[in-house]
Amino acid sequence: MQILNGFSKLSISEKIEVLNKFVPLDNQQTGVLTTFHDYLKDIDNVIVNLSENYVSNYVMPFSIAPNFRVNNKWYFVPMVTEESSVVAAAAYAAKFWSKNSGFITEIAGTKKAGQIYFTCDGGFKKLQFFFPRVKEKLLLSVKQLTANMERRGGGISGITLKQNNNRNTDYYIIDVEFETVDSMGANLINSCLETMGSELIAFLNAHYGKSENEAEVIMAILSNYTPDCLVECKVECDIKQLSEVSADLSPEKFAMKFSKAVEIARENVSRAVTHNKGIFNGIDAVMLATANDFRAVEACGHTYAARDGNYRALTNIDLTKNRFTYTLRIPLSLGTVGGATSVHPLAKLALQIMHNPSARDLMQIAASVGLASNFSAVRSLITDGIQKGHMKLHLSNILAHFNVTESEKISVKEYFNGKPYSFKAISDYLNRIREENEN
Ligand code: MEV
Repeated sequence: MQILNGFSKLSISEKIEVLNKFVPLDNQQTGVLTTFHDYLKDIDNVIVNLSENYVSNYVMPFSIAPNFRVNNKWYFVPMVTEESSVVAAAAYAAKFWSKNSGFITEIAGTKKAGQIYFTCDGGFKKLQFFFPRVKEKLLLSVKQLTANMERRGGGISGITLKQNNNRNTDYYIIDVEFETVDSMGANLINSCLETMGSELIAFLNAHYGKSENEAEVIMAILSNYTPDCLVECKVECDIKQLSEVSADLSPEKFAMKFSKAVEIARENVSRAVTHNKGIFNGIDAVMLATANDFRAVEACGHTYAARDGNYRALTNIDLTKNRFTYTLRIPLSLGTVGGATSVHPLAKLALQIMHNPSARDLMQIAASVGLASNFSAVRSLITDGIQKGHMKLHLSNILAHFNVTESEKISVKEYFNGKPYSFKAISDYLNRIREENEN
């Protein structure tokens, strides 16, 4: 596929037409996009079941970032976000990098885990002695639950007994590792852990003398910290190719300044949080579009960013051999089947637009969007500053608020061209021209 130019300038129906050429959609799916407001009435029937005390829908822009070339496969990526500059930023970087070698990604692991936290008066040595038998029992107790997952190539890949290292509280941990293939697997993991917890207590009660044992499960729950469900995403080019993204700076100066900005974000927590927020601008928008659990992804990503004890940027840069190599490593525990992903009509459509990716594919696409979002943000910061682009898009938001006509829009844009403006200034100006038009 060739780079697509001018997508943002097309009308909604033209965008859908282009999308349709790339990803053949059936009439019903095209209908979802073109007659969304009528369609909202229908999806109410589905949405109503997703949450308690439902009273309405909450509508957000469902946008498309074109030109994502990930491991040489091209994607239009659906993004749901309320922040106006996010899709533009991702699309800008996608276009630039896809003209080079695109986003090169690799999955470093797909393991997820959960824990059973329990107390037991018998002591750790005795637990260790019994553990091989406990393990067998626990696996047997969830055989039915994991059968489906095993058929799809997943299941439980490890069970370990651990002692709590904190001497002030005394409990033990059984750590269970899961491979959940294309589902995020939260429900399955929690069901397995709770079943195993009951089995564990039954075993301990049966094998320990009453006087020596009081065993109790404190809790059994998956962990949203999934450092072994990890993806690496990289973009690279010769430094001289950066001339395209830096009108005022030489490519060498751009690369040096960019590198300095990343170094600051790796060392300084105030900057690191905002740097990483820029990554999640893109990733969260893909999570929302596909109805993935963005809270889990955020919690895990930020914890991973602090894994050496200091909170750091999730990206790394290398400028050796006159090459600009920019890398993001991030844990992403995602699903493309099960949960809301399989129920929400727009999430299903989002997946279809991305050629129905596996969870591994979606990890790689989402990481690419995260890296693209961050690249654009840092590029703006070290060149024009962030406000130039933001304010342009902010103006559209303000105009939407006032429900302006086409001629009012032109008048506002002409009047404020090059001038600083605020919500109040635009409101005053609109009131003035509306009054003048009435008289
Ligand atoms: C704004 O949503 C995100 C940025 O602040 C990210 C960054 O500073 O890198 C632009």
